[in-house]
Amino acid sequence: MKKLFIVANWKSHKTVIEGHSFLIAFFHKEMSKWLHEGGDFQKTIVLCPPFTLLASLKESLLESDHKNIKIFLGAQDISPFPAGSHTGEESSEQLSDLVDYVIVGHSERRNEFSESEQMLVQKVAQAKLGGLEPIFCVQGKENEVPKEVRIIAYEPIDAIGSGRVASLDDIESVAAFYKQKMDIHYVLYGGSVTAENVAQITALASIDGVLVGGASLDPHEFSQIVMRS
Ligand code: PGA
Repeated sequence: MKKLFIVANWKSHKTVIEGHSFLIAFFHKEMSKWLHEGGDFQKTIVLCPPFTLLASLKESLLESDHKNIKIFLGAQDISPFPAGSHTGEESSEQLSDLVDYVIVGHSERRNEFSESEQMLVQKVAQAKLGGLEPIFCVQGKENEVPKEVRIIAYEPIDAIGSGRVASLDDIESVAAFYKQKMDIHYVLYGGSVTAENVAQITALASIDGVLVGGASLDPHEFSQIVMRS
């Protein structure tokens, strides 16, 4: 059986209180029920909340008595610079206290914040220096991918937040392309993933998981995605 990554990207959603309510509902209501029913929990779950929630979620996860459900934390972005005078940026040194993964090159950051390929190379290098695993987003076969990247998320722009998931042929073709071209270990798909469509996507030969935006905000929907993937 392949190793699957189920990654939640909360974007600019949830206050601290809302983040904690999610965790309580996810653990106590949804996942514990499934474990009691004999659910096999082999998947790697990564929550990428906003920076404002990272420290307190980290603490709650450490205190959690659900030792058999391992949830990792990821950041949604990282500074391209080392620690220093860079107002508003979070360095890899700071993030490595809190997270194991970091999303780099999401299309919303490329488009809304003009992140260039060069800047993404620097972000990946910083992530690696801090011991973090970058989840590098590509929008198609044309993107440059820094050579240290091991996890890619294919997120076609039209599919993000639109309810129009890409075709299974397209997803498989892009995933296979990157695995043949580079030393990529895992390819995830992102863009309108739901509990309804996740099983078809994760069944694809070259796909190793999903990056979920909107549908990851609701603990019931997200736990269904974990279970059905
Ligand atoms: P979506 O977002 O699941 O809401 O389409 C995915 C993403 O942007 O990572």
